[in-house]
Amino acid sequence: MTSPSPSASTPRTEQAPGTATPRLAPHELLGLTSPAYGGDYNPEQWDEATLAEDLELMTEAGVNLVSLGIFSWARLEPREGRYELDWLVEIVDRLHEAGIAVDLATATASPPAWMATDHPESLPMSADGVRLGVGSRQQYCPSSTVYRERSAALAAALAERLGDHAGVVMWHIGNEYGCHTAECFCPACARAFRAWLAERYGDVERLNAAWGTDFWSQRYTDLEQVAPPAAMPTFPNPAQMLDWRRFSDHQLRSLMEAEARILRERSKRPVTTNFMGDFPATDYWRWAESLDVISDDSYPDPADPAAAHEVAWAGDLMRGLAGGRPWILMEQAPSAVQWRRRNSPKRPGQHLLWSLARVAHGADGVLQFQWRQSRQGAETFHSGMVPHAGRDSRTWEETVATGQALRRLGPVLGEPVRAEAAVVLDWESQWALSTAIGPVEVGERFEAARAWHRSLWEAGIATDIVPVGRTLDGYRLIIVPAVFIDRPELAGHLERAVTAGAQVVVAGPTGVVDTGAGAVLGGYLGALRPLLGVRVTDHAALTGPVGQSDPRGALVSRLSRAVGTPGSETWVGLEAVSEPLRRVLERMGTPAPDLRAGGWAEELRVDAGSNEAPQDAQASQDRGAVEVVAVFDGRGGGADLAGRPAVTRRTVAGAGAGWYVAADLDSLSRAALLRLVCAHARVRPVVADLPDGVEAQRRGKVLFLLNHGDRAAEVAGVMGTDLLTGDACTGHVVLAPRSALVVRDNMR
Ligand code: GAL
Repeated sequence: MTSPSPSASTPRTEQAPGTATPRLAPHELLGLTSPAYGGDYNPEQWDEATLAEDLELMTEAGVNLVSLGIFSWARLEPREGRYELDWLVEIVDRLHEAGIAVDLATATASPPAWMATDHPESLPMSADGVRLGVGSRQQYCPSSTVYRERSAALAAALAERLGDHAGVVMWHIGNEYGCHTAECFCPACARAFRAWLAERYGDVERLNAAWGTDFWSQRYTDLEQVAPPAAMPTFPNPAQMLDWRRFSDHQLRSLMEAEARILRERSKRPVTTNFMGDFPATDYWRWAESLDVISDDSYPDPADPAAAHEVAWAGDLMRGLAGGRPWILMEQAPSAVQWRRRNSPKRPGQHLLWSLARVAHGADGVLQFQWRQSRQGAETFHSGMVPHAGRDSRTWEETVATGQALRRLGPVLGEPVRAEAAVVLDWESQWALSTAIGPVEVGERFEAARAWHRSLWEAGIATDIVPVGRTLDGYRLIIVPAVFIDRPELAGHLERAVTAGAQVVVAGPTGVVDTGAGAVLGGYLGALRPLLGVRVTDHAALTGPVGQSDPRGALVSRLSRAVGTPGSETWVGLEAVSEPLRRVLERMGTPAPDLRAGGWAEELRVDAGSNEAPQDAQASQDRGAVEVVAVFDGRGGGADLAGRPAVTRRTVAGAGAGWYVAADLDSLSRAALLRLVCAHARVRPVVADLPDGVEAQRRGKVLFLLNHGDRAAEVAGVMGTDLLTGDACTGHVVLAPRSALVVRDNMR
C-alpha cells in the first residue's frame, strides 16, 4: 500500500481560515491510494527499543496513518508556556521515513496537572457543585479562560512547528469533545450562559416570554438572576434545559472551531475531530460544517447480537454528516474494550468483518484505539493492535489480516453509496424530547430513528441519514421518526419530495413543540398537518418503556436473528384495515402476522382534507382523502384507543404519499409496514433474498457481502472479481461465518 503523502499531488484548495475545505473526499485530502489503516499512537509510554520495533511492526501490519499525540500535552508543555516539541518532531520524522503518515493531534484533550494546581478554576464543576479533580482525563471547563488560552497557544505552537511537515497529513483537534465532560456548572459557565442568553434574547422580558417563566413563579427581573439548570428541588424548566443543551453544545463547539481557525491560519492540512456516533450532547450536523474530514469512534459490543446494526447506523450517519462523501473510522477496538461491565473480545473474523462493514457504509479509513496495548494506566486491559502477548496472538494476526485486506481496496476509495431511502435525524428534537417532562420518558440516543433505520437495514435497503434542513430530492422513501420540534422547513422539503413521487412516513411524537419547547396548539404535527391530513389530539403512554418491548423482533431480524435477539413482553394490538397491508401480513409467513405497538401511542383525528388542509381548496383535493391503514384493536392494554386510527396514509394525486404512524410499532409491524411502503416507493434491497445474517451494501461498482452470522451462507448470482482474493466470482458464492466478500462488478 502506498502511504498517504502530502506531496505535490495532494490537492489543495484555497479557503478562508476557519472554514472547511469544500467537497473533497478524504482520499484526495490525505493522498491515499488505499484506505487509511492504523491507530492512536501514544509513544511517550514506551522506550526507544519499543519505538524502533513499532516502526517495523507497523510496516508489517500495513499501517499507513497514525493519530499522534492525542494525550501528550503534559509532555509537550511540561510547565506553563514552556514547550518541548523536539521529541514529537523526531517521531513524526521517523514515521515519515517509514512511510507512515501522521494525523497530528493538537493534544488539547487532557490538560496537564499544572493547569489544575495553578488555575483550579479551570476544572469542571458537576451539577451538584463539585469541582472534578485531576488523575483522570478531560478535566477542563469549556468556558475556562486559561484552558482556552493555553489550548489555543499549544495548537498554534504545533501548527507553526509541524504544520508544513511532509509527514503530517491531517490535524486531529481535541478528542471526543464532551465524552466525559459535556456540561459544566461552574461560575464561569454560568456567566457564559448568561452572555449567550443575552445574545439570543436581547433582554430579560424576551427570555421570560420564551421560557414561559410565568408558570411556577420563575419570572426573572434581570438576566443576572438566570443560572444553569444545576441541582434543584424538582423538574427544571424545559425551555431552560433546551437552551442549556444548546449552550453546552455551543461552548464545546467553539473550542473546536477556535483551534480549527488557528490551524488553518498556519497550515494547509485538513482538520478533523473524532465524533462518537449519535453522541447526544453535541449536534454533529453543526460540528460537521467546520471540518474537512468527518471521522468517528465506534465501539459496538461483540456481546450484543445487534452490534452489526450499530456499525451500519453509525456508518450511515457519518456519511450523512460528510454530506454523502466518505469518512474515516478514527477509532475502534482491535478486540475488547475495558470500560463495559463485561468486556467481550471480538469473535474470530469480526475485526476484519466490521472494518469492511465500515468501508461498505462509506469509510475510506479504518483506525483503532490504540496501536500498542498500554502496560499501565486506565486502559491497560483495553485491547491494542499489538497486544500484551505480542505477535504470537490472534489479535496481532487479525491486525495484519485487516491491513492486508484494506490494502487491496484502492478501487473503493471515493466511491459513493447510493441510497433511495432516508431517515431524518434532528439533534435539537432529541434534546427537546428527552428534556420534555412527560408523557413518557425516552432515551437519549435517537431510539425511534435507530428502530426505523434498523428495519430498513434488516430489509436490506441502503439508507442515508439526513438533517431537517437538507433538500430531499431524489429520495423515494423518507422516514421522519420522532422529530419532536415542529420544523416548517422540513415540511416544505417533504411536500416537494411527495410531489416528486416519494413516500414519506412520519412517526410520532413529531411536531409536538416549537423551537422554544412550547407545545404546538390545536393538535400536534404542526407544519406537517397539510401533508398528512391528520393531527394528534393526545398522547397515550402504553404499558412498557420505549424500545424495550420487542418480543417478536427475532421474527423479522433477518440479519440479527442469526446471532439471536433479546426481548421482553409489553404491547398493544393493532388491526390492519387496509387490504394491501393485510395481504403483506399474510405473505410474511411468520407465526404471528399481526400488528403490535408498545411504549408510545397517540390519539389521532383525521382532517380528511377539509378544514385543516391548506387554504387552497384545489390543493387540498389534489392531496386526496386520508385512508386509515390500521387501527388500535384494543388488545394488550390499548382498550381506550380501540378503533382509533394508528396508521394513516394520504396520497397526493399522481405523486407520492404521506403516512403517519401514531405508535411505536414493534419490529415485525415496522417490517410489514415498510414492505408495503417500499412497494409503493419502488425501493428495493441492494440484493434480494439474502440468507439470514448476510448484509449487502454497494459502493459504486463494488458490492460488499458481509456475513455477520455464525453459520456459512450461500449467495447466488454474484459476478465480478473478489478484491480481497483476486478470484473471479461466477455466480454462487459461500461466505464463511463472520466473513466478507468485496466484489467489483466488471460489467458496471
Ligand atoms: C475513546 C477515546 C480513546 C480511548 C477509547 C477506548 O472514547 O477517544 O482515547 O479511551 O475510547 O475505548
